[in-house]
Amino acid sequence: MFEAGADVITLGNHVWRRGEIVPYLKESDRIVRPANLSVRAPGKKLVVVEGVAVINLLGSLFINPPVNPFEVIDDLVEQARKRTPVIVVDMHGEATSEKVALSKWLDGKVTAVIGTHTHVQTNDARVQPGGTAAITDAGMTGPHDSVIGVQAELAIRAMRTSMPVRFETASGDVRIEGVLVECTDDGRATSCESVRVSVA
Ligand SMILES: [Fe+2]
Repeated sequence: MFEAGADVITLGNHVWRRGEIVPYLKESDRIVRPANLSVRAPGKKLVVVEGVAVINLLGSLFINPPVNPFEVIDDLVEQARKRTPVIVVDMHGEATSEKVALSKWLDGKVTAVIGTHTHVQTNDARVQPGGTAAITDAGMTGPHDSVIGVQAELAIRAMRTSMPVRFETASGDVRIEGVLVECTDDGRATSCESVRVSVA
C-alpha cells in the first residue's frame, strides 16, 4: 500500500488479526495504531508525515477497546498540535452517534475527523462551524457487489444458519471510496467531499 502511494496507514479492530504485524508496527513511522488499545501494546499512537499528524481511535460500541476513545483524544491532540496545525483523526467505530459526537467535540481543534469501519459511505461530509471537516463513514475501497466485501452468498449463509462459514473476498464492482479534505496552512478545513470512484 505504501508503494501504491499511501503516506500513512491507519488500523482498526482487526489490528491483531495477523501477529506478523507486531514487529512491523514497532519499526514503522508511517503506520498509526488505535490509540486506545492497552498501554502495553506496540505501535505508535500518533504519526506526523509531511506536516500532517494522524491519530487513529477505536469506537466503543461492539468493539469494546480497553480504553474509551474520549479518555485519550485530548492529550493526543495536544501532542499533535505541538508538531503541526494539520491534524487528521480516523475514528474507527460502529456507532454513528459516537462518531458524530467526537466530530463535534473536536470541532475547531483538528482539521478532520473521518469515520471508518462500517464500509458504507455516509452522506454527511461537511465542514463544521469551527473549521473541522467530518464524515461519519468514508466508506469502503473494495468490491461493492458483496456484503461489505465478503461474497454475499457466504455472508447470507452464515446469517441464515448461525453456523461458521469461511468468508471469501468478493470481486465485483470494485470502488475506491474516501473523503477529500482541503485546508489552510493553519489546519482549518475549507472543504470536505466524499469520493467514490469505480475501478472495475
Ligand atoms: Fe473495522
